[in-house]
Amino acid sequence: MNVMLDALRIQERIAQLAAEIEADYPPEEEIHLVGVLKGGFVFMADLVRQMSARVTLDFIAVSSYQRSTRSSGEVRLIKDVDASLQERHVIIVEDIVDTGLTLTYLQDILRARGPKSVRTACLLSKPSRRLTEVKVEYIGFTIEDKFVVGYGLDFAEKYRNLPYIAVLDEA
Ligand code: IMP
Ligand code: MG
Repeated sequence: MNVMLDALRIQERIAQLAAEIEADYPPEEEIHLVGVLKGGFVFMADLVRQMSARVTLDFIAVSSYQRSTRSSGEVRLIKDVDASLQERHVIIVEDIVDTGLTLTYLQDILRARGPKSVRTACLLSKPSRRLTEVKVEYIGFTIEDKFVVGYGLDFAEKYRNLPYIAVLDEA
């Protein structure tokens, strides 16, 4: 397993992203982060700890990959958010934007809930794999088309606990 992004580099980039996000919203406005389970949980945990007390959070769970490195292209909602998104500034927090199908689906369903705004933050982006144009306002790192694991990202549910991002050679 080859380390692509080590823990320190990830933390430094997340601190920058948090500062960027904080600066983009008026100081008196709350920011509601919606983390995408399971892959987004580590990024979410580190991102919120770099943000101010005006942050609230919730989680949503979707499934698009079934024990495989290839996308089925089909997105299923497994767990909805707990709280209403009405009149809130929502930021979707996801591990990676690959084909873009998952985020397109999520942006569509969350926008229909009457939020004040919807933006998206992804730790990683693989632009060469995009099948649909999707807007992602905050991107941690742009990477080439390699299957990566760690820092929330899995292969068949494994390696989510790695504190760094690594390239999976067997995929
Ligand atoms: P998309 O719908 O193709 O953009 O896929 C997004 C989802 O695919 C992410 O939330 C990940 O769960 C998964 N995924 C895409 N690329 C990778 C990867 O390199 N490693 C692990 N999971 C990935
Ligand atoms: Mg995921």
